[in-house]
Amino acid sequence: MTDKLIIFDTTLRDGEQSPGASMTQEEKVRIALQLEKLGVDIIEAGFAAASPGDFKAIEAVAGKIENSSVCSLARAVQNDINKAGLAIKPANKGRIHTFIATSPIHMENKLRMSPSQVLERAVEAVNWALEYTDDVEFSAEDAVRSEIPFLVEVFDAVIKAGAKTINVPDTVGYSIPFQWGERISQLISKVPNSNSVVWSTHCHNDLGMAVANSLSAVLNGARQVECTINGLGERAGNASLEEIVMSVKTRKDIFDLVSNIKTEFIVPTSKLVSTITGYNVQPNKAIVGANAFAHESGIHQDGVLKHRETYEIMRAEDVGWGANKISLGKLSGRNAFKSRLEALGINLDSDQLLNVAFEKFKELADKKTEIFDEDIHALISDEYSSEIKENYKLIDLSVESSINKSPESTVVINFEGVEKKETSKGSGLVDATFKAIEKIVNSGSELLLFSVNNITSGTDSQGEVTVRLAKNGRVVNGQGSDTDIITASAKAYINALNKITSKLERAHPQV
Ligand code: KIV
Ligand code: ZN
Repeated sequence: MTDKLIIFDTTLRDGEQSPGASMTQEEKVRIALQLEKLGVDIIEAGFAAASPGDFKAIEAVAGKIENSSVCSLARAVQNDINKAGLAIKPANKGRIHTFIATSPIHMENKLRMSPSQVLERAVEAVNWALEYTDDVEFSAEDAVRSEIPFLVEVFDAVIKAGAKTINVPDTVGYSIPFQWGERISQLISKVPNSNSVVWSTHCHNDLGMAVANSLSAVLNGARQVECTINGLGERAGNASLEEIVMSVKTRKDIFDLVSNIKTEFIVPTSKLVSTITGYNVQPNKAIVGANAFAHESGIHQDGVLKHRETYEIMRAEDVGWGANKISLGKLSGRNAFKSRLEALGINLDSDQLLNVAFEKFKELADKKTEIFDEDIHALISDEYSSEIKENYKLIDLSVESSINKSPESTVVINFEGVEKKETSKGSGLVDATFKAIEKIVNSGSELLLFSVNNITSGTDSQGEVTVRLAKNGRVVNGQGSDTDIITASAKAYINALNKITSKLERAHPQV
């Protein structure tokens, strides 16, 4: 019988550790629902002890998800494990993922613990976690630089204590594929009763080898891969889910494994994650990049037209390209809009919010004849969030620009019931608009990122803008979309200001 490869998605935990990618509770729930639709086996929803916000977000995800397991990370510390256990309580299936570092460099310099203390704590942590769930995963942080005999000793002890999944992380992205495979194979052969647990791998991408290392682990016996959508994650990121899944599927001759992933949802999931986090996907990224299935050279085009397999090893539609069929249009009614939202996993809590969203949808349909699912996701991202208090509201924006005149923007903003108007010049219209907004709000925040992306194709496509602002150590991402990119930019800036003032975004998860 063909073995199963378990997909453990950590977009909402390790992915969220990408600078500026922290998500609100609602955003986490939206992504989690999409991950469930994608068929992910385990959703690591966050690190419960990191902040009350992260705790609540995990609890909310646990309450919404029906089929996937919901997991919280926890250091091997009693308080972390208690928080993780409570946060996953509403889940149908809940997992605690506890970890402690096992490498000499981490034990001596970071933990200041001896190997025997680390061993003892690892076992204690598994026992504490078992009080909340029988699905306990143990990770040996920095396993890549840990000594094999010590890893064997620790894994043996935590398996005896009751851990069901043993995760071997390349925390610093240091390994080379053949070495990583060898390490996994040695551990599986040396650890007593290794066949009673699932072996897992978690690889970082510092040398660009996270996917290759993960696949090498799979070839050597790992049956769970920890990965993220679009390869998001700490520093250079984690192994990308889409690359792992499509490698295993496309090269079934080599891996002979199946996963639960419904690959046609890969691209929509990737787009949702990039919309919410503001991390755009590079065009030449495998599987989900805009050019991943584009054939530019005449020879290639000719080949594909004659026989697709000449230059294509996968079908674009199998990973969800082209799945963005027109979903709604100008004549669509409130019910059609509501059922499309439900199909996309978006549940607006009240009729009033639905009416507001429907109004916005109608406004968009007036400007843009074909409304795709991506448009709806973007509309909901910037127009609706029950968590964000709309302190600032964009009332009007007019701009003037010509080749011989400095660009100028006039903005009207409503702040707590009072309308204020300011005009500013700038090096371009976006610059002038942001300066005019700042003249009104005087927020004192620093602009860290401004990025524009087209949501769908065509010149009537909406531009989706991300603005990342920092203030007093907090970093927030604002999103705005509109068929006019200056308006989209103003909306994104104001959305970020509202997030900053709502004090919604949590501190960096591992602070
Ligand atoms: O990279 C790492 O080691 C981790 C662990 C917490 C699994 O993220
Ligand atoms: Zn990690």
